[in-house]
Formats: sequence, structure tokens, C-alpha cells
Amino acid sequence: MKKTLIAPSILSCNFLKLEEEIKDVEKAGADLIHVDVMDGHFVPNITIGPMFVRALKTITTTVLDVHLMIKNPQQYVSEFIEAGADIVTVHAEADVHLLRTIDMIRSQGRKAGVSLNPSSSLNLIEYALCAIDLLLIMTVNPGFGGQQYITTMEPKITAARDMIKKTGRNIDLEVDGGIKATNVQRVVKAGANIVVMGTEIFHSGDYAAKIREVRKIVSSQDYGTH
Ligand code: DX5
Ligand code: ZN
Repeated sequence: MKKTLIAPSILSCNFLKLEEEIKDVEKAGADLIHVDVMDGHFVPNITIGPMFVRALKTITTTVLDVHLMIKNPQQYVSEFIEAGADIVTVHAEADVHLLRTIDMIRSQGRKAGVSLNPSSSLNLIEYALCAIDLLLIMTVNPGFGGQQYITTMEPKITAARDMIKKTGRNIDLEVDGGIKATNVQRVVKAGANIVVMGTEIFHSGDYAAKIREVRKIVSSQDYGTH
């Protein structure tokens, strides 16, 4: 049985209390720290860069799950790796030489992820599945925290899980965008084994209670039990 992992997205945390926020979600039971990098080109928002990841690395030993929502990610993956990213996820739509980028990430000893926007077909990553460690299915159009979960992504998650199964490889299936205690069971049932949560955790007021609540909901659905 594979435990469902919970990845709080720090996009929704209080940046003025970053260190405290990280320590608090760690204590609350976060499995990974999800870091959203946006360039103002691939998505209509700008967030943080490698310097920020380097600073994060000095205050946490939890896996840094870095989600690059940037154009030409191959230009920057090495900088993020040097800064301390443990998982580097790039968007298939943003990279015309995806396999080269995946290779760059893996050859530097980090996990390589590929992400798909809601409207993108799984066909885009069909021939990359042989090389990746993680597939990230966006359940909102990337760019902002606090958006509405797109329910029609559930068949896509199931189809992605089936594609993964066929490879026989150990590929994580992550979902990101609008995930809450109220819909997490559905995405896990569909096949996801990593759930990103921004506002649901950081705006909850009690991180430990929220993570406990989510863990209880998903534990019956953990991938491998069905
Ligand atoms: C959206 C980001 C998400 C975001 C999720 O573009 O990739 O990681 O922080 O936030 P919520 O959980 O609030 O949708
Ligand atoms: Zn993200």
C-alpha cells in the first residue's frame, strides 16, 4: 500500500512569517513542501526564484517539491537543483525538448516531474512516461492559489493512473489546484497519491487539525488499497 502524501503549497502562507509557517506545517505532518515558481509569461503571475529555494533549504529538511510554471524551464532547472530542489517539475506545454530537460534533472540526482494544464491531453506525456518520476495533473489553470477545482479532471487522473500502471514504473501522480478536504477523496480515488493544498491548509487556522482531517479522509483510499 502506498500512503497518500500531503504537500502544502507555500504560495498561500504568510510570507512575513515564512520560517514559522514551514516549521508549523512540518510539525502538522506535511510530507513535502510544494513551491510554486511563476514567471509572468507561462502563467499570468510572478512569484519566486532559485534564491528563495536556497533560503528555504536552510530552514527545512522536508522534500522541496518545486513546480516550475515558467517558459523554457531547461534554462533554469540546474539553478533550482543547485538551490536545493528535491523534485523539479516542468510543464510539458512549456518545453519543446522535454526529454532533454527530464534527463538534465535526473542526471543531477533529483526527481523529474512533468505537469499538464487542465486542457492538455495526456498524449503530450505518453512518450515521456518512460523517463519521469512524477506526473502532475493540474486541477486549476495554473497561476494563482485559491481557485476553483475543475471536477472534469477526475477522468483524466484515472486515465493517467492507468497509463502509469502500464509502464510498470514507480511514478507518483500528483494533483494541484483547489484541493480541499471536501474533494480530496475523489482525486485519491481517481488515482492520485500526492495532493497539493495551498489555501485549504494555510487559511485553515489549525494546520495540524486540517492535515489530520485530510489524512483520515484519504487513508481509506490510499493508492493500492483499491
Ligand atoms: C496554482 C499552483 C498551486 C496553488 C494551489 O497555479 O500551482 O500549487 O498554490 O493552491 P490552492 O490549493 O489554493 O488551489
Ligand atoms: Zn503548484
